[in-house]
Amino acid sequence: MSPEYDVLILGSGAAGLSLALRLAPHARVAVLAKGELNEGATFYAQGGISAVLDASDSFESHIADTIDAGAGLCDADTVRYTVENGPKVIDWLIERGVPFTRETLDDGSQTYHLTREGGHSARRVVHAADATGQAIETTLLDRARAEPNIDLRERHIAIDLITGQKLGLRGNRCHGAYVLDRDSGEVLSLRSRFVVLATGGAGKAYLYTSNPDASTGDGIAMAWRAGCRVANMEFVQFHPTCLYHPDAKSFLLTEALRGEGARLLRPDGSRFMDTFDSRGELAPRDIVARAIDHEMKRLGAESMFLDISHRSPEFIKGHFPTVYSRCLDFGYDLTAGPVPVVPAAHYTCGGVMTDHHGRADLEGLYAIGETAFTGLHGANRMASNSLLECLVFSAAACEDIIARLPETAAPPELPDWDESRVVNSDEMVVISHNWDELRRFMWDYVGIVRTTKRLERAKHRVDLLAQEIADYYGHFKVSNDLIELRNLTQVAEMIIRCARRRKESRGLHYTLDYPDSDSIRRPLNTVLVPKNYAALHRHPTWA
Ligand code: FAD
Ligand code: SIN
Repeated sequence: MSPEYDVLILGSGAAGLSLALRLAPHARVAVLAKGELNEGATFYAQGGISAVLDASDSFESHIADTIDAGAGLCDADTVRYTVENGPKVIDWLIERGVPFTRETLDDGSQTYHLTREGGHSARRVVHAADATGQAIETTLLDRARAEPNIDLRERHIAIDLITGQKLGLRGNRCHGAYVLDRDSGEVLSLRSRFVVLATGGAGKAYLYTSNPDASTGDGIAMAWRAGCRVANMEFVQFHPTCLYHPDAKSFLLTEALRGEGARLLRPDGSRFMDTFDSRGELAPRDIVARAIDHEMKRLGAESMFLDISHRSPEFIKGHFPTVYSRCLDFGYDLTAGPVPVVPAAHYTCGGVMTDHHGRADLEGLYAIGETAFTGLHGANRMASNSLLECLVFSAAACEDIIARLPETAAPPELPDWDESRVVNSDEMVVISHNWDELRRFMWDYVGIVRTTKRLERAKHRVDLLAQEIADYYGHFKVSNDLIELRNLTQVAEMIIRCARRRKESRGLHYTLDYPDSDSIRRPLNTVLVPKNYAALHRHPTWA
């Protein structure tokens, strides 16, 4: 009999772990990670989490800044819901033991230090020095390890969701997932009353990315194949400042550096951000990344530079210990002068469409965290709103799941994974070659600055790749790399499709053929609807 859970959570980042911990007193939960348990984007988050925590700040101000950064496409209700729940989820993290950085005020009292980042008109980013994600991930993971009701399974990669429709059952619902145990090579059928996609973003679709290897858009691709709508994939965020060094693998130099006064410089030492936006270095990310890209292309320069050396060495080492020591590893001393920076793919604003409870289109399926499209970020995510979204929507999904558990029947027995018609791969080079090709053409043709012609080229390439991979998938046994490549290609195809549909420039989507935003029509999300959508979703009580 296949293993059975109340809730199967795919992903062990901030979204997945916080949901598991909230559910543990009520339900039997499994949390899967396809690599090591801490190997997702969460662990690498630097700047912090935004929330209204200071008396001089307000919900209205956080809401207005988020909507402004989102360039006309934020869902106002989602923004309000997220912002108003911010302080509660920060309290929840503090209660779990996350060691946020404190400061002592003039009157001797202690408070949490708040930093600033692009787009925020106030100091509202709570952080653990410059390694906020590591503090959150390790704290939540330690807690989850101590919970008897949470089954943590690392090196287990989900391949696809198992739905009633695929099983030929009446009524379409998610009943679990096929999962490859990477160590034994066995494919398991994991049954569950509810399944939650918390699989993170898809930055690995690009050659240069701040994202870890796990960010291959698996949840978005799985949901799409299971018949769920996916939206706004054209809005891929490029972080303006990653360290420019051949061995640095796009190491991030947190935006909080600019929040604390760091300046962007041309190679000749002159500043340039003021000519692009009155907010200078603290303009929203799309504007800063495009400005850097513009200056690099105009000057034929390999990078721009970031300089915080006018602050004291004690301040720099105290606030940015991780970035300081990592830069030193590569021969750059932040306290002594500028360091070279370039933009890199950083965040997937689009994703699986969900409601305020985290419910996706398929009954029994939720999506939370970077995998989801809630409407919070619009056409451009504001800094440090992502971890906030992970935590707010895991709390919302938890509430909804607990309310539904008593009335939800146990999942049916699931068929075994069928390997009778596939053999071991004879040419792994096909996977590595296609992987490199995909990431390169996405960088060249679907990057910070797009054109219709470049997008057409990308479409042609991705269609060929998708065909080749489908053929390969049909003939050979699944492996981790094949599963990821299949998903990444699917997600790249959706990014290209959404980008081709948007005949204007808005937020993170900038095209030379339509350089302005459409100011006549009301801005709309780009919603991709699966072919058999209407037939798949006849569930009056869901969503
Ligand atoms: P992740 O933390 O990415 O976790 C994904 C999980 O899903 C992993 O456990 C992975 O193993 C698992 N998984 C994926 N596919 C499968 C599969 N097929 N089967 C099983 N498991 C699977 N945001 C902020 O708000 N503030 C910041 O300061 C900040 N800094 C950042 C710095 C960096 C370098 C990066 C890359 C991102 C940063 N972000 C920041 C963004 C933020 O970190 C992420 O959006 C957020 O952590 C995503 O959390 P998540 O739980 O959705 O996914
Ligand atoms: C950073 O620290 O610059 C990243 C913040 C974010 O992505 O929200």
